[in-house]
This record gives sequence, structure tokens and C-alpha cells, in this order.
Amino acid sequence: MQPNDSRKTPLTFDTIEAGSGLAAALKKSRADIIGEVSASNLKGRGGAGFPTGTKWNLAAAARVREGGSKYVVCNADEGEPGTFKDRVLLADYADLVFEGMTIAARAIGATKGLLYLRGEYVYLRPHLESVLARRRKAGELGADILGTAGFTFDIEIRMGAGAYVCGEETALIESLEGHRGEPRNRPPFPVNTGFMGRPTVVNNVETLASVAAILSKGAAWFRGVGTEKSAGFKLFSVSGDCDAPGVYEFPLGITIAELLDRVGGGNAKAVQIGGASGQCLPASAFGRRIAFEDVATGGSIIVFGPGRDMLHVAKNFMEFFVEESCGQCTPCRAGNAKLLEGIEKLERGECSSTYLAELLALSETMQLASKCGLGQSSPNAFVSIVTHFQDEILGRTAAAGAR
Ligand SMILES: Cc1cc2nc3c(=O)[nH]c(=O)nc-3n(C[C@H](O)[C@H](O)[C@H](O)COP(=O)(O)O)c2cc1C
Ligand code: SF4
Repeated sequence: MQPNDSRKTPLTFDTIEAGSGLAAALKKSRADIIGEVSASNLKGRGGAGFPTGTKWNLAAAARVREGGSKYVVCNADEGEPGTFKDRVLLADYADLVFEGMTIAARAIGATKGLLYLRGEYVYLRPHLESVLARRRKAGELGADILGTAGFTFDIEIRMGAGAYVCGEETALIESLEGHRGEPRNRPPFPVNTGFMGRPTVVNNVETLASVAAILSKGAAWFRGVGTEKSAGFKLFSVSGDCDAPGVYEFPLGITIAELLDRVGGGNAKAVQIGGASGQCLPASAFGRRIAFEDVATGGSIIVFGPGRDMLHVAKNFMEFFVEESCGQCTPCRAGNAKLLEGIEKLERGECSSTYLAELLALSETMQLASKCGLGQSSPNAFVSIVTHFQDEILGRTAAAGAR
């Protein structure tokens, strides 16, 4: 069964005329397309916030080995807990996503695109295939796209392998190549050595749809929304203890308090921003801005009401990471299990402040020494919850001691 449409605000994407972004791009040189994207200050919507124009510049400059192609990969794995905004784009704005991929291909000189679709979104595949078929018929994919001699590009859909780590771009590429989805060492980066060892741009679904909007309406229009360092509008998937969970569009730079007000979460005790790998902030931090320069997020907002047990929240996230660690490197494989063990001790009231300090030191080691973003960010929720809710958490030890 398909989920109900969960959009709660009108989307700017509704105002973008179909095909206008690609048409504008085809009138520009490759360098000017990348120039427009760079001037928009668009930063990747998948979580890490890497500047899209910079990534495309690197891929455009990369050399292709003889007989090979460059690739554009759309990351539609959407595995971060609490994130469900790409699903809305794929369901209702697939043309904009494919248009963004086609613009990326033109900019970097790719001939092949791959959309890596989250396994649970398999129900969207027939719809996406029909949009691709229509685009081929209309000359928007295939050879000499829209009469542009020599511009050949097509897109294939591949199903995701069902692991959170497969959303990490190098694990995703391994998975696309038919291997177990395990992150690679970086460097080399995918822009030089990606899918089948060829230069590859990996971008999030929303990043690519935003590119189509930027080419249609211009970099200045996009930069006119948001903050100086975090340009544009952004989709948020809001869940948890609020009156109106769903998918919202807000300008970057909105404060947490403003967002909570809009979603009916005004009495929240805490908000997890950026999914399981993000941070958990208490009410005293609700004046902070959701932006790359303050609190960054790929779009996941989970609201916790006054009755929530914050240690239970931390345990829930840590169980997820123990399950999802690919096990390749020790800090992540052993560290997540140790942190979970520590949380269980805390739960039983067996944890001293010295032991808690050791867990925080272990968290720092994991953040510094893990091979990929999963292990580097998996302690974030634990650290922020222990930092901001220390009295609640150590209160258990005091209560156990009094018994
Ligand atoms: C464990 C892990 C899971 C990730 N999952 C996703 C995902 O589901 N979708 C996504 O777009 N990016 C995900 N990313 C980020 C990607 O590695 C990559 O930065 C992103 O696809 C780049 O696109 P962007 O620059 O357009 O944001 C994940 C990263 C990590 C470390
Ligand atoms: S950090 Fe975790 S998920 Fe990433 S490579 Fe190491 S074990 Fe695998």
C-alpha cells in the first residue's frame, strides 16, 4: 500500500515549469552550468552539505579511462531514521529529479545515470519507469537530447540492498557494482574513482531536484532564500510527538522553535535533528538555527515530548547502530556495542560519573577513528543526550544508590 501524501506545506517545486531547467541548461556551456550551480551556493541535501558546484567541477575535470563513461548517481536510499522527504519527491516530482540528473550529466560529461532506490520504495518503481519511458519518448533522454548533438544520456533504476550503510556514497557504489555494501577508503573520491572505477557524481534526490529549480529560476533567486551560508529552501520530514507530523518545506535558517511552532510541537522536551546520526537538543537550544553553519540536517526532525525517557531514546539509536555497523573497522564495530553496554549499565543505575566520562572518551575516539560517516556520527545522539540530560540520566544512579 502506498503511504498517504504527507506534505504539510506547498512546495516551491510546484512553481517550477517542467522542462524549463533542462532547456536553460542546454543553452549554456558546461562551465556555465556548473558556474550557475556554484553561484546558487547549493549544498548537498543528503546530510553532509558538500557544495554541489564544487563536486561537479571536480567530476568535470576528472579524466576518464579509455572506453569508459562518467556516471551520475542519484542517492535515493533514504535510510536515515526519520527521513521520508525524498519519497515525496520521487512520487510527485520525479521529472524534476531526472531533469537534475540530466543537467548534472551535461555538466560533467556523463552518458549514464543510475538511481539507487531504497528497497522499501519498490512500489514507486513502476511510476518511475513510466516517467523515464515518457522522457525517452520526448527526447529528454537518449541520443542527442532535445536536439543537442552529441549529448547522450540515459537513466537506469537499481534497487537498494536494504542496509543503512548503503546510503553512504562509496558503499552505495560497491552495492551498485554487485558487491556487499561496504564503504571504501577515501581518497580516492568517487568524483575521480567511482562506479566501475570511473568519475562519478553522487547526489541526493532533493539536491538534484533543486538543481533543476536553480537552472530554471537562476542562482540569485535560490540565494534569495535561506542564510548567507545555507542558501535556499529545504524539505524536512517531521515525526514524533507533535500534532502534525509530515513533510514540510522551510527556508534554511529557520529556528528550531519556529519549526516546532509550525508542526504543533511547542511543548517538546527535546528534538533530534539529523536523524539517528544527528544531535539531540533540549528546549534551551530551541533558539538555534537549522542551517549548515549551526545545526545541520539532511531533513530528519524527530520531536520528543515531555514524557520521554531520554536514556531510552539514546538506547534506541544505539541499538540501530549496533545492527547497522558493517563491521569493517574496530572503532565502529566494537565502539557501538560498548556504548550500548554503557547505556544498559546507566539504565540499571550502575554507572558512575567516571564511567560516563570513559564512554564520552570512547565516543570521541569513534568520531575520529571510524572509517566512514556511520561510525564517525553514531555516538552523536548519545553524546548530546548525556551532555544535555545528564541530571536525568545520573539521577538513575542516585536513585538506585538510595534504594
Ligand atoms: C551511513 C550513511 C548513510 C547515508 N545515507 C544517505 C542516504 O540515504 N541518502 C543520501 O542522499 N545521502 C546519504 N548519505 C550521504 C552520502 O554519503 C552522500 O554524502 C550524499 O549522497 C551526497 O549527496 P549530496 O551532496 O547531494 O548531499 C549517507 C551517509 C552515511 C555516512
Ligand atoms: S565506520 Fe562502521 S559502517 Fe563505516 S566502515 Fe567502519 S564499521 Fe563499517
